[in-house]
Amino acid sequence: MSFLEVKNLKTYFFTRWGTVKAVDGVSFCLNEGEALGLVGESGCGKSVTSLSILRLVPQPAGRIIGGQVLLQGEDLLQKSEKEMRRIRGARISMILQDPMSSLNPVFTIENQLGESLQIHRGLKGRGLWERAVEMLKMVRIASPEVCLKNWPHQLSGGMRQRVVAAIALSCEPHLLIADEPTTALDATIQVQFLRLLSELQRKTGLTLVFVTHDFGIVARMCNRVGVMYAGKIVEMADVRTIFDQPAHPYTQALMKAVPNIDEEEERLISIDGQPPPLHNLPPGCVFASRCSSVSSKCRYDEYPPTVELGNGHTVSCWKHV
Ligand SMILES: Nc1ncnc2c1ncn2[C@@H]1O[C@H](COP(=O)(O)OP(=O)(O)OP(=O)(O)O)[C@@H](O)[C@H]1O
Ligand code: SF4
Ligand SMILES: [Mg+2]
Repeated sequence: MSFLEVKNLKTYFFTRWGTVKAVDGVSFCLNEGEALGLVGESGCGKSVTSLSILRLVPQPAGRIIGGQVLLQGEDLLQKSEKEMRRIRGARISMILQDPMSSLNPVFTIENQLGESLQIHRGLKGRGLWERAVEMLKMVRIASPEVCLKNWPHQLSGGMRQRVVAAIALSCEPHLLIADEPTTALDATIQVQFLRLLSELQRKTGLTLVFVTHDFGIVARMCNRVGVMYAGKIVEMADVRTIFDQPAHPYTQALMKAVPNIDEEEERLISIDGQPPPLHNLPPGCVFASRCSSVSSKCRYDEYPPTVELGNGHTVSCWKHV
């Protein structure tokens, strides 16, 4: 049994312009301790996939309309809201792109880190303080006692993101979903934060879903990669295979824009053309309008089935059927 198994997940937004198929049949599985990178251009459904796992899709427009999210075999989509509240923060945590939006400006760090430890761990008084200090030490905050007394605006961006990570990890979750957690940080702080996160992951055996549009980060952080396009995972494989033998024309186009897996510089996704509007998807393959290998089958037939190429490498493209 996989640690996390997402099966045919569909999350749509019902808007006045039509139905936006933000996540349209996403499936993947993840073993305990693995780190999966979810990559793809802006708007392809990475964040909505992450939010769907936690059942935090923006309401009322967004709705999970189908699929399963199996965490250690239990389907989270069948849980009550009360059960989900217990699972969030305890078994699954999330770190978001902007640390300021995860921290409440009117409460001190002590209040915010303490609240999480109180709710999920039942800690109080001295024990709670000591655990809070320990968590801040773990994310390498130099003066944890001072930091605990601070309000979020008194901390630098890098420190805030460390505090957010401390809160997310304070209850020793089994699964951490990090949605572009370093985008708001400058380059040096970003590298430090990523290093810290992979160290914590190795130490605690945490399972990680890492959302990014930067392949440099994927190479650094993840063992497997899911490439998303227009609400679907079009290709999935281990990191080396994605870099060395990409099979989907979209991944191949992305890889042409990425020079070398071992380089340290930032490499953002950018290829010619635009993805199709998610409220008005074309028939056939969603990548057809930008694909250099397109054939008439791609435009008029069904969406290509997912084919297994061996070693957990899957691809959805008519060329491989
Ligand atoms: N509240 C909403 N109402 C309507 N549509 C939405 C809403 N939130 C997201 N969407 C749509 O869902 C699609 C997927 O959005 P999502 O935020 O998952 O993209 P993403 O891959 O995370 O992009 P980015 O890299 O920019 O963060 C987008 O096309 C967006 O238009
Ligand atoms: S199915 Fe056709 S259009 Fe789609 S990626 Fe494959 S070759 Fe290109
Ligand atoms: Mg996003």
